[in-house]
Amino acid sequence: MDELVALCKRRGFIFQSNEIYGGLQGLYDYGPLGVELKNNLKSSWWASIVYDRDDVEGLDASILTHPDVLKYSGHEDTFTDPLVDCKSCGLRFREDQVPDNCKDEDLTEPRDFNLMFQTNVGPINDGSSFAYLRPETAQQIFTNFKNVVDSTSRTLPFGIAQIGKAFRNEITPRNFIFRVREFEQMELEFFVQPGTDDVWHKEWIKNRKEWWIAQGIDSSKITILNVTGDDLAHYSKSTVDLMYEFPHGLEELEGIANRTDFDLGSHSKNQDDLNITSKVIENNSSNTKLAIQDLENKKFIVPYVIEPSAGVDRGVLAILNEAFNIEKLEDGKERLVMSFKPHLAPIKAAIIPLKKNNDTLVSTAIKLKNELQKLRLGRVVLENTGNIGKNYRKHDEIGTPICITIDFDTLEKNIVTIRNRDTMSQEKLDISKVSDYFKDLLLS
Ligand code: GAP
Repeated sequence: MDELVALCKRRGFIFQSNEIYGGLQGLYDYGPLGVELKNNLKSSWWASIVYDRDDVEGLDASILTHPDVLKYSGHEDTFTDPLVDCKSCGLRFREDQVPDNCKDEDLTEPRDFNLMFQTNVGPINDGSSFAYLRPETAQQIFTNFKNVVDSTSRTLPFGIAQIGKAFRNEITPRNFIFRVREFEQMELEFFVQPGTDDVWHKEWIKNRKEWWIAQGIDSSKITILNVTGDDLAHYSKSTVDLMYEFPHGLEELEGIANRTDFDLGSHSKNQDDLNITSKVIENNSSNTKLAIQDLENKKFIVPYVIEPSAGVDRGVLAILNEAFNIEKLEDGKERLVMSFKPHLAPIKAAIIPLKKNNDTLVSTAIKLKNELQKLRLGRVVLENTGNIGKNYRKHDEIGTPICITIDFDTLEKNIVTIRNRDTMSQEKLDISKVSDYFKDLLLS
């Protein structure tokens, strides 16, 4: 983990947030390469969940959330972790994360600590108008269920997907970007006919594991865990976690829950008319029935929900961990190479003119850079430092799949040299064929 954290800072993937003022615990900023990697991971999820299917719509809802949403969702009462104080060192910990050097006899009895952040809304700060920063993106998908159904005429089964920030006042944020206080989620709420939920749950578990493998995660590092007992959330009939071997241990990467009709039922008015199967709090505040009409018998039913919920930041950490390789070279030296899948690589290609002071070489390199950039397949950069060896080493470390050198062969014979990050092999190619080569690399 330490080597990975050092690389992330040195090369501009991830920085401690607010660092110049000493930092704020549990918050991180994504630098020039980190933002590209993260955006690529999110785009890959969105394409697979929304564009490649015909049964999912997208949404981008607000972060500030009406307290009633989180009252009826159960978060106000149950979104807590057990907190203990150590009377000896004066620090507070989550009960299961007390360090070894705090003695049992120094610890207070655990008490519930709610993880939601609150903020004031509007100009009056008397506590009467507050909102929560959402602790999951899911709730605003549920509250928009009727809007989406009415505006798209969707019938079951169908899903609503959202990527966005979530906030949790974690008692002990730790392990770099694994457990943080501000993070992003990629969540799908997939609405199904009650009775078909178990089959859809299995289908989504399979789908999501395969997707992570396609992002470069080694399948042997993913374990499927059936969540049981007290670990099962209040809304869940059954949850499966995809556990990944992070540098610090085996931990949750994504959860896939069968949330039943709990959420739509909880946020609905006239609940008694809706045949809701789960235990919901009586709701006299909602002005809407979050139900869908059964086309055959015209009755309203509250769909069951299957929810694959993945953390973007945990995804980035897993991808960084998988990509990180230190290779022994034939000459006894080592090289650090980040072997990202090309679609996730922050920079897709570096164009390197052999001599930085040669105007013709540089202008040819700029022309090729612009041509590849216009394909809109990701970021392409011009490396005009004039040191090919150093540039190869740098681009290995940041995971650029190819470097393309413009030299005198390019000027005389239109030939460029393409150097492959993984094999370090070099091949010559006519400059007119580079666009197709680049498209093959990123689209195959
Ligand atoms: N809507 C369901 C839900 O939020 P969760 O298991 O609490 O379920 C889903 O969170 C995912 O969000 C987790 O699998 C994890 O990847 C990510 N996540 C949760 N808390 C996090 C934190 N404090 N820091 C980073 N990622 C977190």
